[in-house]
Amino acid sequence: MKKPFLSIALASTLAFGAIGTQAVFAQQAGTEQEQPLKVFDHKVIKHINAENIYNNIAYLSKTPRVAGTEAEDNAVKYIKEQFESYGYEVEIQPFQYYGYTPPHTVQLSVAGYDGELKPASFTYTVSGNASGDLVYAGLGKKEELTNMDLTGKIALIKRGDISFADKVLNAAEKGAAGVIIFNNTSGDVNGTLGGANDQYVPAVAITQAEGEALLTKLNSGSKLTASVKIEGARTGESTSHNVIATKKPTNKQKDTNKVIVVGAHHDSVAGAPGANDDASGTATTLELARVLKNVPTDTEIRFVTFGAEELGLIGSTYYVNNLSDEDKERVIANFNLDMVGSRDAGDLVLLTLDGKPNLVTELAQASSERLNGAPTPYGQGGRSDHVPFAEAGIPAALFIHSPSEPWYHTPEDSIDKISKEKLQDVAEIVGAAVYDLARFDSMGPKPKKGPKVKADADMYFEQAVR
Ligand code: BES
Ligand code: ZN
Repeated sequence: MKKPFLSIALASTLAFGAIGTQAVFAQQAGTEQEQPLKVFDHKVIKHINAENIYNNIAYLSKTPRVAGTEAEDNAVKYIKEQFESYGYEVEIQPFQYYGYTPPHTVQLSVAGYDGELKPASFTYTVSGNASGDLVYAGLGKKEELTNMDLTGKIALIKRGDISFADKVLNAAEKGAAGVIIFNNTSGDVNGTLGGANDQYVPAVAITQAEGEALLTKLNSGSKLTASVKIEGARTGESTSHNVIATKKPTNKQKDTNKVIVVGAHHDSVAGAPGANDDASGTATTLELARVLKNVPTDTEIRFVTFGAEELGLIGSTYYVNNLSDEDKERVIANFNLDMVGSRDAGDLVLLTLDGKPNLVTELAQASSERLNGAPTPYGQGGRSDHVPFAEAGIPAALFIHSPSEPWYHTPEDSIDKISKEKLQDVAEIVGAAVYDLARFDSMGPKPKKGPKVKADADMYFEQAVR
C-alpha cells in the first residue's frame, strides 16, 4: 500500500517544477527514512493514471475470458486495439493445445418444481440437450442401478462413495439421457469428471439443499420432468493467443540489444469475470505500454498478454519455447503482473520461482523504496507466467498481493472489488523499475536488500498458500 509521504514527494516535485538531475527527497514520515524520488522516475509515474487501468479492467471483466472461447478472442481484439491506439505494432501469436473448453450455457429446469435451481457444470461435462422424467438413482453405483431402467430419464444422484465420472457413466449405461448430481455437504460442487469420455451424457451439479428438495418432491409422489441444457463445452484441439506489442530502442546506435518483457495473462477461469485475475495485470500492462511509449529507452521492451495461463501456463510456455536461442539470451527480465488490484488482498509481494532475489526483484525493491520509502518484500512462488521465463534462466518475478482475496477464481472476482490505489501503486513501482533498466545510461540495480525483507515476504506468502 502506498505510504502517505509519497504524495508529499510528488507535491513538492510539482511545486518546484523542473528539478535538474538531483534526486527529490520526500519529507520524513514516522520512522521511515528519507527516500529519493529520482527525476527519471518522475518521467514515468507522473503519466500513470489508475483511471485508465480501471476502465480497461471494467471492459475486460464484463464476461469470463476462458482460453479458446469467443470471449477470449474478443479480449485479444480489444487488447490489440488498445496497444495500437498508443502507436504500437502488435503481433498476435496463436497457439494450439489439447484441452477442455467449458460451456457458456448451463441450464436446468424441472417442471413440477418451483424452487430455484442454480446448476454448475463439471470439467469435462459434454454439451447436449436432455429432457425426461426425473428419477432418483441413489449414489449411482452399479449395484444400485441393476434393476433400474433409466432409458430417456434424467437421473438424480447424490454425491459420495464413487467418482462423479462413474456416476455419470453408470447412469448413461442404463440409458439415462442426463444426470443431476447433488452435493452431500453444504456449499457448491466444484467438480471434474477427470477426463474426456465419449460415453458421458450431459451432467450438472446442484447444492445439497436443491437436491434434497427435489428428492422430497419425488418421494411425495410428484412426477417431475427435468431438462438439462449444456452448450459450448468441448474437448479437443483449441486455439488461444498471446498479444505482443514491442517498443524498440529509441536510438539504434545506443541499443543494448537486450529485451525486457512486461506481461500478464488475459484469460480467466470459467464462471469468473477475472477482474483481478487477471484483467488487473493486463490493464496495468496496457497502461505501462501507453506511458513508456513516449520515453527514450536503449533497451527493447515487449508488452505481452498471455492466453491459456489458467490451463497450465500454456501461452507463456509457448512464448518462451518459441524464442530463438539468440532472443532467449537477449531477454534479461520478465515482470509478471497477476492479481495486482484487489481491494481485499494483502500487500504487494514479489515472488520468484526459486525464492531468491534477481534483477527484477532488485529493480522493484529499489523503485518501491524510492516511491514508498520501503522495499516491497520478496518470497518464493510459482503458479503464474513468470515460471517458464525463470525455467529458461531469465530473471523473472510475479507481482501479486498477498494474502489473496477470497474472490479468487469465483464469480465475485468483479470490478467492484478493484482498488485504484493498489493499481496506481503497482503500476508506478513496475513502471519506475522498468524505466530504470531501459532508460539511457542505466547503471542497473543497486545492491540487494538484507534478509528482513525476505522474511516478511515468506510470512505473507505462507498465508496465501491454498
Ligand atoms: N493468479 C493465479 C496464481 C496465484 C493465485 C498465485 C494466488 C498466488 C496466489 C493464476 O492465475 C492461477 O490460478 N494459477 C493456477 C496454476 C496454473 C498453473 C494453472 C493455480 O494457482 O491454481
Ligand atoms: Zn492469474
